[in-house]
This record gives sequence, C-alpha cells and structure tokens, in this order.
Amino acid sequence: MKKYLKPCVFILSLIPFLIIFYKILFNQLGPEPVKEITHHTGEWTLIFICLTLAMSPLKRLTNFFIWISFRRMLGLFIFFYATLHMLTYVIIDYRLDFESISKDILTKKFIFVGFAAWLLLVPLALTSSKKAMIFLKDKWKKLHRLIYIIAILGVLHFIWLVKKDLTEPLIYAVIVIALMLFRFKFKKI
Ligand code: HEM
Repeated sequence: MKKYLKPCVFILSLIPFLIIFYKILFNQLGPEPVKEITHHTGEWTLIFICLTLAMSPLKRLTNFFIWISFRRMLGLFIFFYATLHMLTYVIIDYRLDFESISKDILTKKFIFVGFAAWLLLVPLALTSSKKAMIFLKDKWKKLHRLIYIIAILGVLHFIWLVKKDLTEPLIYAVIVIALMLFRFKFKKI
C-alpha cells in the first residue's frame, strides 16, 4: 500500500498543471489569459509551500513517518510551479524584455520579493537529491531551512500585490505563521 502512496501524491500534484494546460489548449482561460495563468501558478506555488511545511507537523501529530517521505517531492513541486509562474511573467507577459523586467524588479516591491523567493528556491531544488543530502551533511538541513524565508517572501509578495481585499493573502500568512510556530516548538523534526 505504502509504495503506491508516493506515485499517488505525484499524480495529485500534477493536477493543477494539467488543469491550466487543458485551459490553454482548449481556450478556456477567459478574458485575461495571462493573468489567469499567473494567478493559477502563483496560488499553487503558495499552496505547495504550505503543504511542504505541513509535513513535519503531520508526522508529529499522527506519528506516521510517511509524511516526511512526501516532503522532497512536494518541495520540488514548489519549484516547478514557481518556475512556471515566473516564466509566465518573463516570457508570456514581458516577452523577454529584460530592461522592463529589471525595472519592475527594482521598482515594484512585490516583484522584488517574488523574484528573491524564486532565486532562493534554486539552491534547494539543485540540492534536493539524496546524493546532495549525503554530501552536504549538516549543511543540507541548514540550507533547506531557507524554505521558511521563501514562505515569508511568498506571503509578502501576495500581500503587496493585492490592491483591495487582503483576506486571501492574510489566510496564507496565518497558515505559514502557524506552521512555523509548530516548527520552532518541536525543533527536532
Ligand atoms: C515563491 C515564489 C512566488 C510565490 C509563492 C508567488 C505567489 C503568487 C501569488 C499567490 C499570486 C496571486 C495569485 C492570485 O491572484 O490568486 C501571484 C501573482 C503574481 N506574481 Fe507571484 N509568486 C512567486 C514568485 C513570483 C516571481 C518570481 C514573479 C516574477 C518575477 C512573480 C510575479 C507575479 C505577478 C506579475 C503576479 C500577478 C500580479 C497581478 O495580479 O497584478 N511571482 N504570485
């Protein structure tokens, strides 16, 4: 049974991608297609951040080690959705106009923190393999604590980009803070 759980989590994690792929293929994106892709991928990046952070608390609460075995895969899905999100902005929205993109990064604080979060995800994705884990030893754990900074930057990015209703980003803020408090209360896991 256990050996089927990981492939199931993998397939479930691909569903948001398949949904947006279907919408692109069958012209179902609505009046603002770029916005729709950006929102979908951004939102799922944040959901995967919360899911990844939730694995240790779930292990602690249920005493099932299986949650920890999903963590690496879910972490890689953060990078997958964040990269799709960033590429939507860089390739589809700005058509590789690096001058305007640099200007945006330097003048819009929500783009600055979003970009910083994506950059911090790169070393985590590059060192996600078991080999890297063995090679880096204690440093691996320290490096992968960057996920907490990434989570904070991701939430700030959402708070700063929203113009009117702050409800949704604030819900994510509460979830991230709760998961971080749990982590600091039970430091060993
Ligand atoms: C960990 C990294 C990131 C996370 C968690 C994240 C998350 C989000 C979320 C949740 C949204 C709002 C979705 C909605 O409206 O429902 C969003 C929108 C957006 N993000 Fe990101 N993002 C990240 C990185 C980036 C990067 C690297 C860029 C570009 C350089 C970027 C550019 C944008 C833009 C342009 C929007 C739409 C703004 C608007 O509606 O006016 N994000 N992001």
